[in-house]
Amino acid sequence: MSVTKMAINGKELELPVIVGTEDETGIDISQLRKRSGVVTLDTGYGNTGSCQSAITFINGEKGILRYRGYPIEQIATTTRFPEVCYLLIYGELPTQEQYTEFREGLTHHTLIHEDMKKFFEGYAITAHPMAILSSMVAALSSYYEAAEDDEAMNLNIVRLLAKAKTIAAFSYKKSVGQPFVYPQNHLSYTQNFLHMMFSVPAEPYEVPPVLDEALNLLLILHADHEQNCSTSTVRMVGSSETNLFASISAGINALWGPLHGGANQKVIEMLQHIIDDGGDYKKYVDMAKDKDSPFRLMGFGHRVYKNYDPRAKILKESADQVLGQLGVDDPLLEIAKHLEEIALEDDYFVSRKLYPNVDFYSGILYRAMGIPTNMFTVMFALGRLPGWIAHWREMRLDPAGRIHRPRQIYTGPKMRDVVALAER
Ligand code: ACO
Repeated sequence: MSVTKMAINGKELELPVIVGTEDETGIDISQLRKRSGVVTLDTGYGNTGSCQSAITFINGEKGILRYRGYPIEQIATTTRFPEVCYLLIYGELPTQEQYTEFREGLTHHTLIHEDMKKFFEGYAITAHPMAILSSMVAALSSYYEAAEDDEAMNLNIVRLLAKAKTIAAFSYKKSVGQPFVYPQNHLSYTQNFLHMMFSVPAEPYEVPPVLDEALNLLLILHADHEQNCSTSTVRMVGSSETNLFASISAGINALWGPLHGGANQKVIEMLQHIIDDGGDYKKYVDMAKDKDSPFRLMGFGHRVYKNYDPRAKILKESADQVLGQLGVDDPLLEIAKHLEEIALEDDYFVSRKLYPNVDFYSGILYRAMGIPTNMFTVMFALGRLPGWIAHWREMRLDPAGRIHRPRQIYTGPKMRDVVALAER
């Protein structure tokens, strides 16, 4: 192990240097405070490695994304979502036998307890499906005990993956006032979700292969993205030994915000707003560039990618194909194309490396698939589920794991005395 030297308050310290498999280098400062009395400050964690992880590798400068070493471009064209779940969680692509068993588990645990159906009655009809998803996932912990051993942990993992899609589809049915549609065991993971979303008792829904393929791709592309806001939340919450369901529920809430998973909904709302305002998209580009305006172009920019987001590249092609096959003629798409063209040429965006991100295209695709806008972030959550689970499991199985507890630099008042009120 190599070390680096650092001088703090005139005192020289040697700090260990940790090198990852892709030569990513980190200075281990875990003993810094003990040895020098100071901490590091990195608001937003842009320069802080919070853990060592063997799940996903990203190189934002080069536009690289790999799950367990496999390039996302290969994963996206050769696998089905349950295989990716298995890969992320357990580290290897499943053998045929492992895949059959895993898929059967996902099929046979799809139903939620009948009592849980009653919970849906209590939500307001206008409830955002993310509120329903996060609270229902937390509620699963009241039905299934926290895992004591590997077998119980694996069972809870399968339960969560299987039931989340049922909860998601039921939350949609609740919002449109339709009866819940039960899963069918002969359908695949993605087919079952679309069936529960779009079938009505009078008319079973034949899942169009083009939508099945598109959903499979969307879920795979969202499956993991290392230490983002929601995944780090899952690890943070799970570090106190909180159970799987409650930890993932926290991740769902972290994903909800418009600067993270909520962006795909915001993209469509922004495009619709531009159309409603007369379609002058250039006005909105100028607003996004104006330092005095808080407006940002939703679906552009990324903390890590300073190159084209590889997921966005794949989705852009798929969006063109799916929209072509479905014969969708969407005015929002026209505006989206104009914005994309400008952002790829305009100096403001080029100099800041603000490329369209995955949410820019996923919103457009979900809309073409008939998924309502307020379900977009739920779709992201379904895709991200295996990534969250993989990180939760990796953290829990790490023998060196400890509760996450960052430090801070206090900037409040110095010590002062209370002056009691005259009358209380
Ligand atoms: N529109 C206009 N300007 C932007 C945008 C945008 N979408 N994004 C960043 N900028 C500008 C900033 O104003 C800043 O300019 P400056 O250097 O002149 O001050 C510069 O680009 C860098 O931006 P930061 O805010 O420092 O970048 P950060 O890494 O903190 O934020 C984020 C990344 C949150 C994704 C941001 O680009 C953003 O708000 N994008 C829109 C929301 C969005 O699409 N989120 C989805 C992210 S992808 C995902 O979660 C899967």
